[in-house]
Amino acid sequence: MTLEFHVDYSLHFFTFGMSRKIISGIAFSKDHKMSIKYSELKKKLKIEVKKPEQTELANLTHFLHSITEEQRGYYKNAALDYLESFVDGVEEPIYQTKIPLEWDIPFPAPQKPKFTFIDLFAGIGGFRLGFQEIGGKCVFTSEWNHYAQKTYEANFGEVPFGDITKINESDIPDHDILVGGFPCQPFSIAGVSKKNSLGRTHGFLDETQGTLFFDIVRIIQKKRPKAFLLENVKNLVSHDMGNTFRVISNAIDELRYTFYPMVLDGKYFVPQHRERIIMVGFDRDHFKGKEEFIFPKMPQFPPMVVEDILEKVVDEKYTLSDKLWDYLQRYAAKHKAAGNGFGFGLVNFDGISRTLSARYYKDGSEILIPQEGKNPRRLTPRECARLQGYPENFIIPVSDTQAYKQFGNSVVMPLMKEVGISIFKTLKFEEKKHVKSSV
Ligand SMILES: C[S@@+](CC[C@H](N)C(=O)[O-])C[C@H]1O[C@@H](n2cnc3c(N)ncnc32)[C@H](O)[C@@H]1O
Repeated sequence: MTLEFHVDYSLHFFTFGMSRKIISGIAFSKDHKMSIKYSELKKKLKIEVKKPEQTELANLTHFLHSITEEQRGYYKNAALDYLESFVDGVEEPIYQTKIPLEWDIPFPAPQKPKFTFIDLFAGIGGFRLGFQEIGGKCVFTSEWNHYAQKTYEANFGEVPFGDITKINESDIPDHDILVGGFPCQPFSIAGVSKKNSLGRTHGFLDETQGTLFFDIVRIIQKKRPKAFLLENVKNLVSHDMGNTFRVISNAIDELRYTFYPMVLDGKYFVPQHRERIIMVGFDRDHFKGKEEFIFPKMPQFPPMVVEDILEKVVDEKYTLSDKLWDYLQRYAAKHKAAGNGFGFGLVNFDGISRTLSARYYKDGSEILIPQEGKNPRRLTPRECARLQGYPENFIIPVSDTQAYKQFGNSVVMPLMKEVGISIFKTLKFEEKKHVKSSV
């Protein structure tokens, strides 16, 4: 697939400054235009995630993905600085030219985007997959775990920026929708008490300081996206006796956004019971609270059963050892006798599984596959990908342990896509109303 890439003066290195070193990466595409494969460029420019906070690679790949001058502006200087390390003097252009960049990755960004979004706490890009499928263009990504960054880059050709707490909100491009599944933390009252003792009044926004939700707050406050989509474990609602959720709702109100929270289950899209609190918001400054938003209707029956996501041939290494299987059975029996806990979970092939968690790599106990004549086995990473609704061509470039953590932390992609469709419908509908009323 060839992405028409308008090379402006900052990209002239392809043809001028870097020509000696890079020109061999330029090939002719079918229609006889010059093109550069991302995979070639990746090798030449050493785009390889090896450690966290490779900000230079994040800037470069975000720059390559930018399609407007405004977006490019956020990443250009840092991207050029990085390129300078490959060649002396990336100079001003002599003229403008146009080279298609061939995104030979599994999930290239849409060529004609319908809306823009940012992907916070991006993990391996579950939201991005769904949002790209409906025409969304991601203009900024943050994820600090470098194993997750590696998976993200392999699939989307973009290295996420690292620790969100260190990113200035002014350095994030404008976007229509802010998306993020943030880690849940209690809100400390320490900061608030201090403010009280200083005789200063505080709002709920203040109460979020020092948490990762606060980072979402400050980005929303500065960038005013038209809408946001946040996701968390269902327990967020009851966390800290309801205080956490109360602070979140009030902070969102203080930000002047209308709030739509709802618990949704991924089981209508994949054979997995996975309940999550989905929080959608719309900017009241923009919509005046008159947007028409409804959550997607869930299909009546799960479309798949566990059997449908299983691989036909599975390596023996996924079969539990006698020692582990024995331990899990004894542990379950002990807890059953004490009247608590579920112990391990052997799946029913015709049913759905329990929730895949980030700790699945430890013993796989929550989702075990019975096997004839031998101990049960755990899911393979590919089966975990399927259980979260990931397409078959999703690349898993990391160890099994990292892959389990990544899929366990991720989202049921098709569910997020459906919620994305509902949000996008609202944005479109409001746009049409606005056009009508202004003619
Ligand atoms: C629940 S997971 C989200 C997974 C994601 N929705 C997906 O589809 O894969 C939360 C992610 O936030 C990341 N994270 C935690 N603290 C962070 C920080 N300060 N800056 C950037 N990412 C962070 C974690 O590494 C983790 O991958």
